[in-house]
Amino acid sequence: MNADELKRRAAERAAEWIEDGMTVGLGTGSTAYWAIRRIAERVKEGLSIRAVASSMRSEQLAIELGIPFVSLNEIDRIDLTIDGADEVDERLHLIKGGGGALLREKVLAAASDRFVVIVDESKLVPTLGAFPLPVEIVPFAERLTLNRLCELGGDPVIRLAPGGDRYVTDNGNWIADCRFGRIVDPASLNARLNQIPAVVDNGLFIGMTSAVVASRKDGSIEVLM
Ligand code: 5RP
Repeated sequence: MNADELKRRAAERAAEWIEDGMTVGLGTGSTAYWAIRRIAERVKEGLSIRAVASSMRSEQLAIELGIPFVSLNEIDRIDLTIDGADEVDERLHLIKGGGGALLREKVLAAASDRFVVIVDESKLVPTLGAFPLPVEIVPFAERLTLNRLCELGGDPVIRLAPGGDRYVTDNGNWIADCRFGRIVDPASLNARLNQIPAVVDNGLFIGMTSAVVASRKDGSIEVLM
Protein backbone atom coordinates (compact mmCIF):
# COMPACT_ATOMS: atom_id res chain seq x y z
CA MET A 1 0.00 0.00 0.00
CA ASN A 2 1.51 3.35 -0.98
CA ALA A 3 1.63 6.44 1.24
CA ASP A 4 -1.37 8.06 -0.41
CA GLU A 5 -3.47 4.93 0.07
CA LEU A 6 -2.53 4.87 3.76
CA LYS A 7 -3.56 8.51 4.12
CA ARG A 8 -6.85 7.83 2.38
CA ARG A 9 -7.67 4.91 4.65
CA ALA A 10 -7.08 6.88 7.86
CA ALA A 11 -9.04 9.84 6.49
CA GLU A 12 -12.01 7.77 5.41
CA ARG A 13 -12.20 6.00 8.78
CA ALA A 14 -12.31 9.33 10.64
CA ALA A 15 -14.92 10.71 8.23
CA GLU A 16 -17.28 7.95 9.38
CA TRP A 17 -17.37 9.58 12.85
CA ILE A 18 -19.30 12.56 11.49
CA GLU A 19 -22.99 12.56 12.35
CA ASP A 20 -26.06 14.41 11.11
CA GLY A 21 -26.37 17.96 12.38
CA MET A 22 -22.69 18.42 13.17
CA THR A 23 -20.58 21.47 12.47
CA VAL A 24 -17.38 19.99 11.06
CA GLY A 25 -13.88 21.49 10.84
CA LEU A 26 -11.96 20.62 7.69
CA GLY A 27 -8.18 20.30 7.91
CA THR A 28 -5.54 21.05 5.32
CA GLY A 29 -3.04 18.86 3.47
CA SER A 30 -2.86 15.68 1.45
CA THR A 31 -4.43 13.52 4.19
CA ALA A 32 -7.20 16.01 5.01
CA TYR A 33 -7.91 16.11 1.26
CA TRP A 34 -9.15 12.51 1.45
CA ALA A 35 -11.32 13.28 4.46
CA ILE A 36 -12.93 16.18 2.60
CA ARG A 37 -13.62 13.95 -0.38
CA ARG A 38 -15.23 11.27 1.79
CA ILE A 39 -17.29 13.88 3.66
CA ALA A 40 -18.52 15.21 0.31
CA GLU A 41 -19.56 11.69 -0.71
CA ARG A 42 -21.46 11.29 2.55
CA VAL A 43 -23.17 14.64 1.99
CA LYS A 44 -24.29 13.40 -1.42
CA GLU A 45 -25.62 10.26 0.31
CA GLY A 46 -27.76 12.46 2.60
CA LEU A 47 -25.55 13.46 5.54
CA SER A 48 -26.64 16.88 6.81
CA ILE A 49 -23.75 18.97 8.15
CA ARG A 50 -22.15 22.36 7.82
CA ALA A 51 -18.41 22.84 7.54
CA VAL A 52 -15.72 25.40 8.24
CA ALA A 53 -12.20 25.16 6.84
CA SER A 54 -8.66 25.72 8.08
CA SER A 55 -7.40 27.13 4.78
CA MET A 56 -8.56 28.77 1.59
CA ARG A 57 -7.47 25.60 -0.26
CA SER A 58 -9.73 23.37 1.81
CA GLU A 59 -12.57 25.90 1.66
CA GLN A 60 -12.38 25.93 -2.14
CA LEU A 61 -12.28 22.13 -2.33
CA ALA A 62 -15.24 21.78 0.04
CA ILE A 63 -17.34 24.26 -1.93
CA GLU A 64 -16.40 22.61 -5.25
CA LEU A 65 -17.44 19.22 -3.88
CA GLY A 66 -20.76 20.57 -2.59
CA ILE A 67 -20.18 20.46 1.17
CA PRO A 68 -22.46 23.05 2.88
CA PHE A 69 -20.05 25.71 4.04
CA VAL A 70 -20.18 28.53 6.60
CA SER A 71 -17.59 31.08 7.65
CA LEU A 72 -16.01 30.75 11.07
CA ASN A 73 -17.69 33.98 12.15
CA GLU A 74 -21.12 32.40 11.73
CA ILE A 75 -20.57 29.73 14.38
CA ASP A 76 -19.70 29.53 18.07
CA ARG A 77 -18.24 26.04 18.25
CA ILE A 78 -17.28 23.04 16.14
CA ASP A 79 -18.38 19.50 16.95
CA LEU A 80 -15.55 17.64 15.23
CA THR A 81 -12.47 18.69 13.29
CA ILE A 82 -10.48 16.23 11.20
CA ASP A 83 -6.94 17.23 10.25
CA GLY A 84 -3.56 15.77 9.37
CA ALA A 85 -0.24 16.25 11.16
CA ASP A 86 3.46 16.24 10.39
CA GLU A 87 4.44 14.44 13.60
CA VAL A 88 2.52 12.84 16.48
CA ASP A 89 4.35 11.93 19.68
CA GLU A 90 3.45 9.33 22.30
CA ARG A 91 1.42 11.88 24.31
CA LEU A 92 -0.43 12.89 21.10
CA HIS A 93 1.24 16.29 20.98
CA LEU A 94 1.73 17.37 17.38
CA ILE A 95 3.84 19.29 14.94
CA LYS A 96 1.62 20.80 12.26
CA GLY A 97 1.98 23.48 9.63
CA GLY A 98 3.92 21.68 6.93
CA GLY A 99 1.20 22.92 4.60
CA GLY A 100 1.42 26.44 6.02
CA ALA A 101 -2.04 26.49 7.62
CA LEU A 102 -1.03 26.12 11.27
CA LEU A 103 -2.74 29.25 12.61
CA ARG A 104 -6.20 28.54 11.20
CA GLU A 105 -5.76 24.87 12.04
CA LYS A 106 -5.04 25.72 15.65
CA VAL A 107 -8.00 28.11 15.79
CA LEU A 108 -10.29 25.31 14.58
CA ALA A 109 -8.74 22.72 16.90
CA ALA A 110 -9.21 25.00 19.91
CA ALA A 111 -12.86 25.60 19.01
CA SER A 112 -13.62 21.90 18.53
CA ASP A 113 -15.25 19.53 20.98
CA ARG A 114 -13.26 16.77 19.31
CA PHE A 115 -10.06 17.20 17.31
CA VAL A 116 -9.26 14.04 15.36
CA VAL A 117 -5.86 13.64 13.72
CA ILE A 118 -5.42 11.42 10.67
CA VAL A 119 -1.99 10.08 9.75
CA ASP A 120 -0.13 7.21 8.22
CA GLU A 121 2.22 5.44 10.60
CA SER A 122 5.30 7.30 9.33
CA LYS A 123 4.09 10.36 11.30
CA LEU A 124 4.17 8.56 14.68
CA VAL A 125 7.37 9.42 16.58
CA PRO A 126 8.60 8.94 20.16
CA THR A 127 9.68 12.60 20.42
CA LEU A 128 8.81 15.60 18.25
CA GLY A 129 11.46 17.49 16.34
CA ALA A 130 12.74 15.64 13.28
CA PHE A 131 10.23 17.62 11.21
CA PRO A 132 11.11 21.35 11.14
CA LEU A 133 8.74 23.32 13.37
CA PRO A 134 6.82 25.95 11.39
CA VAL A 135 6.49 29.32 13.12
CA GLU A 136 4.17 31.95 11.61
CA ILE A 137 5.69 35.43 11.87
CA VAL A 138 4.63 38.97 11.01
CA PRO A 139 6.65 40.21 7.97
CA PHE A 140 7.16 43.68 9.55
CA ALA A 141 9.47 42.21 12.18
CA GLU A 142 11.24 39.50 10.18
CA ARG A 143 14.82 40.29 11.20
CA LEU A 144 14.16 40.78 14.91
CA THR A 145 12.00 37.68 15.04
CA LEU A 146 14.55 35.48 13.27
CA ASN A 147 17.16 36.73 15.76
CA ARG A 148 14.94 35.71 18.66
CA LEU A 149 14.27 32.30 17.10
CA CYS A 150 18.04 31.81 16.71
CA GLU A 151 18.51 32.70 20.40
CA LEU A 152 16.04 29.93 21.26
CA GLY A 153 18.11 27.49 19.16
CA GLY A 154 15.65 27.17 16.28
CA ASP A 155 17.99 27.77 13.32
CA PRO A 156 15.11 29.40 11.38
CA VAL A 157 14.77 29.40 7.61
CA ILE A 158 12.10 31.51 5.92
CA ARG A 159 9.87 29.26 3.81
CA LEU A 160 9.82 29.97 0.09
CA ALA A 161 7.00 29.37 -2.39
CA PRO A 162 7.73 27.25 -5.51
CA GLY A 163 8.54 30.38 -7.56
CA GLY A 164 11.21 31.42 -5.05
CA ASP A 165 9.27 34.25 -3.41
CA ARG A 166 8.48 34.07 0.28
CA TYR A 167 5.60 31.75 1.06
CA VAL A 168 2.64 33.85 2.27
CA THR A 169 0.06 32.29 4.61
CA ASP A 170 -3.69 32.78 4.25
CA ASN A 171 -3.26 35.43 6.95
CA GLY A 172 -0.66 37.42 5.00
CA ASN A 173 2.24 36.28 7.19
CA TRP A 174 5.46 34.37 6.61
CA ILE A 175 6.64 31.01 7.94
CA ALA A 176 10.01 30.41 9.59
CA ASP A 177 10.80 26.68 9.62
CA CYS A 178 12.86 25.96 12.73
CA ARG A 179 15.10 23.04 13.69
CA PHE A 180 15.23 22.69 17.45
CA GLY A 181 16.40 19.07 17.41
CA ARG A 182 14.51 16.73 19.75
CA ILE A 183 11.76 18.73 21.46
CA VAL A 184 11.65 17.09 24.89
CA ASP A 185 9.43 19.76 26.48
CA PRO A 186 7.03 20.93 23.76
CA ALA A 187 4.78 22.84 26.19
CA SER A 188 7.67 24.99 27.37
CA LEU A 189 8.92 25.63 23.81
CA ASN A 190 5.39 26.52 22.71
CA ALA A 191 5.12 29.10 25.50
CA ARG A 192 8.56 30.60 24.80
CA LEU A 193 7.89 30.90 21.07
CA ASN A 194 4.53 32.55 21.53
CA GLN A 195 6.05 35.12 23.89
CA ILE A 196 8.02 36.60 20.97
CA PRO A 197 5.88 39.61 19.97
CA ALA A 198 5.87 39.07 16.18
CA VAL A 199 5.30 35.32 16.40
CA VAL A 200 1.65 34.82 15.55
CA ASP A 201 1.67 31.15 16.49
CA ASN A 202 3.70 27.99 15.98
CA GLY A 203 3.01 24.44 14.84
CA LEU A 204 3.14 22.77 18.26
CA PHE A 205 -0.31 21.48 19.19
CA ILE A 206 -0.14 20.60 22.88
CA GLY A 207 -2.94 18.67 24.57
CA MET A 208 -5.43 19.42 21.81
CA THR A 209 -5.78 15.96 20.25
CA SER A 210 -8.87 13.91 21.10
CA ALA A 211 -7.89 10.92 18.97
CA VAL A 212 -5.40 9.87 16.32
CA VAL A 213 -6.48 7.57 13.51
CA ALA A 214 -3.28 5.98 12.21
CA SER A 215 -3.11 3.62 9.27
CA ARG A 216 -0.38 0.99 9.30
CA LYS A 217 1.47 -0.55 6.39
CA ASP A 218 0.04 -3.98 7.26
CA GLY A 219 -3.42 -2.61 6.40
CA SER A 220 -4.64 -2.17 9.97
CA ILE A 221 -5.97 1.06 11.43
CA GLU A 222 -5.18 2.02 14.99
CA VAL A 223 -7.06 4.61 17.04
CA LEU A 224 -4.90 6.26 19.69
CA MET A 225 -6.48 8.27 22.54
C1 5RP B 1 -0.96 21.81 7.06
C2 5RP B 1 -0.79 20.72 8.03
C3 5RP B 1 -0.97 19.33 7.55
O1 5RP B 1 -2.01 18.74 8.26
C4 5RP B 1 0.30 18.58 7.75
O2 5RP B 1 1.33 19.28 7.09
C5 5RP B 1 0.21 17.16 7.19
O3 5RP B 1 0.06 17.23 5.81
P1 5RP B 1 -0.09 15.93 4.92
O4 5RP B 1 -1.37 15.29 5.32
O5 5RP B 1 -0.09 16.47 3.51
O6 5RP B 1 1.10 15.06 5.19
O7 5RP B 1 -0.50 20.90 9.19
O8 5RP B 1 -0.61 23.04 7.60
